[in-house]
Amino acid sequence: MNYLSDTITQPTEEMMSSIQNAVLGDDVYGEDPTVNRLEEVAAEILGMESACFMASGTMANLASIMAHCPRGSKVLVGDESDIYIFEAGGASVCGGIMYEPIPTQRNGELAIQDLEKVFPFDPEDPQFALPALICLENTHNRCGGKVLSLSYLKDVYEFSRKRKIPIHMDGARLFNAVSAMDVEVKEITKYADSVQFCLSKGLSAPIGSIAAGTKDHIKKVRTLRKMLGGGMRQAGIMAAPALVALKNMTSRLREDHIRAKKLAEGLADIPGIKIDPDEIETNIVLFKIDENVCTWQTFLELTGNRGVTFSEMGYGRIRAVTHRHITDDDIDSTLAAVKHMMQTELKAACIS
Ligand SMILES: Cc1ncc(COP(=O)(O)O)c(C=O)c1O
Repeated sequence: MNYLSDTITQPTEEMMSSIQNAVLGDDVYGEDPTVNRLEEVAAEILGMESACFMASGTMANLASIMAHCPRGSKVLVGDESDIYIFEAGGASVCGGIMYEPIPTQRNGELAIQDLEKVFPFDPEDPQFALPALICLENTHNRCGGKVLSLSYLKDVYEFSRKRKIPIHMDGARLFNAVSAMDVEVKEITKYADSVQFCLSKGLSAPIGSIAAGTKDHIKKVRTLRKMLGGGMRQAGIMAAPALVALKNMTSRLREDHIRAKKLAEGLADIPGIKIDPDEIETNIVLFKIDENVCTWQTFLELTGNRGVTFSEMGYGRIRAVTHRHITDDDIDSTLAAVKHMMQTELKAACIS
C-alpha cells in the first residue's frame, strides 16, 4: 500500500490505448493535433484565453513566473510552497528573480497584511527590488491538501489589482480543490491571471502539466518552454492520455478524499498517533507520532516493513496521499497494520 504520492498513479488502459492511436505531428512547429486539442480543451475548462502543454508542474511554474517577472524583481511565494521549497530555486537561477517568502498560514493562505508588508513605501526608490507576482498554491501540499476558499481568493485578487501585480496559481492539484468545493473550475481560476495544473498526479496521466493564461502570457510561456528544453516533438503521445485524464478522471477524485478522511479517522483512534480528522479536506493526510512512542524515522521504517509506504513532509509530520490505487480494503489493512504495530512492536521497543 503505497501512500507516497498521487504521482505514482499508473496510466489507465484507456490512456495506454489512446497513446497507440494518437495522431501525431511536430509540436515545436505547433503541428501536433493531439497537443493542440489538449491545449484547447484545457483553456476552455479553465476559462483562460490560451494554454500550453508542459513537461511538468515545475516547468509550468517556472515558465509562468519568468513570463510574469522581469529580472531583478521579486516573486511573492509561501514559505511552505512547492515553488519555494521543492523546485530547485529555478526562478532565481534561470530568471534572475528574487523569492520573497511569505509566512504560510495553517490553511495554506498567505495573509494579505503579510503580502502588503513587502511593498516598498516608495516604489520609485531605486534601492528596492519590486514585487512582480503573487503565487498561491491550491490545494496546498505541505498544509495537508488544504483548499483555498473562494472568499480568500477574491480578497487576494482585489489586493493584487490594487497593487497592480498578477497572481499565478500553482494548481498542481487544482481538480482536488474543484472536487472538494463542488464548483466549476472557472469559479476558482477567475481569481488568477495564470494557472498551472498537473495531469500526472491524481488524474493518473503519465506525464505533463498545463500552463494557462492570456494569449500574450502563453506566447511568452511557449518561448520559455523552448528555452528550458521543454519543446517536445511528437508530444501527442503524452497529450493523448492527458485528454483521457481530463475527460474521465476528475470526477473520481472525490473517492480519494473520502478514503483520506476514513484513513484519518482510523488513525485518530490509535493511541500514539496525533491527528485531527476534521483537518482533512482532500487527498492528503498529515499526522505526527507521539515522541514518547517513537521517532518518525522508526515509524516509517516499521510501517515500510509491513508493506505500508508513507513519507515525511517536514517537521516530523508523516504524509499519506490517497490515489486511484488505494482501495477501501487498503485503508482497512493499513489501519490494522498500524494499530498492531503500535500495540506490539513499538510498545516492546518502548519498554526495552
Ligand atoms: C503543489 C505542487 N506544485 C508543483 C509540483 C511540481 O510538479 P512536477 O512534479 O510535475 O514537477 C508538485 C509536485 O509534487 C506539487 O505538489
